[in-house]
Amino acid sequence: DIGAALGSVADPGVDEDALDALDERVAAAHETIADGRAADEFGYAALNLPDRTDPQQIRDAVEPVADAEYVVTVGIGGSALGAKTITAALAADPDRHVILDNVDPEHVERTLADLPLEDTAVSVVSKSGTTAETLANFLVVREAYEARGVDWTERTVATTGESGPLRELADEEDLPTLPLPDGVPGRFAALSTVGLVPAAIMDLDIEGLLAGAGDVADDLGPSLYDTPAYAYGAVAYALEERGASVNAVMPYAERLEYFAEWFAQLWAESLGKDGRGQTPARALGATDQHSQLQLYRAGPRDKMVTVVRPRERADVPVPDPGHESLSYLAGADLGELLDAEYDATVASLSAAGRPAVELELDRLDAATLGELLYAMEAACVLVGELADVETFTQPAVEWGKRAARGLLAGDDTEETRTVADRPSYV
Ligand code: PA5
Repeated sequence: DIGAALGSVADPGVDEDALDALDERVAAAHETIADGRAADEFGYAALNLPDRTDPQQIRDAVEPVADAEYVVTVGIGGSALGAKTITAALAADPDRHVILDNVDPEHVERTLADLPLEDTAVSVVSKSGTTAETLANFLVVREAYEARGVDWTERTVATTGESGPLRELADEEDLPTLPLPDGVPGRFAALSTVGLVPAAIMDLDIEGLLAGAGDVADDLGPSLYDTPAYAYGAVAYALEERGASVNAVMPYAERLEYFAEWFAQLWAESLGKDGRGQTPARALGATDQHSQLQLYRAGPRDKMVTVVRPRERADVPVPDPGHESLSYLAGADLGELLDAEYDATVASLSAAGRPAVELELDRLDAATLGELLYAMEAACVLVGELADVETFTQPAVEWGKRAARGLLAGDDTEETRTVADRPSYV
């Protein structure tokens, strides 16, 4: 469900007349999206994943490593964040899934030193098969296994395309491999082989996740008033047009902390183009109520705040305080307190005329997580249509990748020359 404090009370705000007018453009955008899906066009094909992803294919591929206690994802950006978002939200022990995305040497060394590699599966993922961070980390991981006398080839599953260096490495060692979905950019690939391998190894409900996503896919319609995913996208677009250049995403559930990171990538890499795009900010309720909320309520009027919560939570009663000054906690539950914090944040923003959009899940499980991930992807595609940007490309990201590879190889390219010629004030 989606709710929003809008209208004349908020600045930036959007009133019902403006949303009615926008709804005509939503209908046109929906038609483009539906045509793109029907033709499996690049990017739009991502919105067909709930139907196209075969969970059994993934379960079969991970079968040789399904008894592993830990899983390491070696990948970055869209090849890691979706996978971690899913396991963080659904696993009883999310620490069993570790990601090696960054190439910070101390972090990589410490992470590998702490893992029982004989009991750890590796999921190496790269769509292009050429990303320097992923390949470098994979080589370091392999060597760590060898140094401990553990056969990494028996513990590794690769997800990559038909060609490229990672495909060559996988073929040389005869690794089990999973194909990429056709026409799906990395950040839209959480609901495919790219995002589901660790969840399958940890025996999470990937079927339920896809079913939840499929329910939202089936319900995409031409009006924002009937389609919550489009309502979110349309409101975010309208608020951006009126000055909300920042979108602060604040889940009230630790299990959704990674969701905010995944959302930030989706929003920034897809919509940050042609001088447009909201800057996503990551926050966590109630922790950041004690820090960032001050800025959200009283700082520049350039933000919308997206709060997310599951309605059902585990029961953890607060023990009887036995003290008069703490009597307000008597009979309370931690979830009740967290909900009170959530309500207080929304009310505090609304009272200050700051736009807050509420996303509520009945509970946090595989089906509702699938709904949430799919809805945010559909919202993002809608915003891209309304803003007329190339949602599915990432030229700035590609530039950086080429520059890093060129610098390491000592190549003389446009990118490496730009790096060498950059102004330096150090
Ligand atoms: O969304 C994207 O395109 C990027 O974030 C990629 O997923 C990321 O750069 C990793 O690329 P690759 O999977 O090719 O290694």
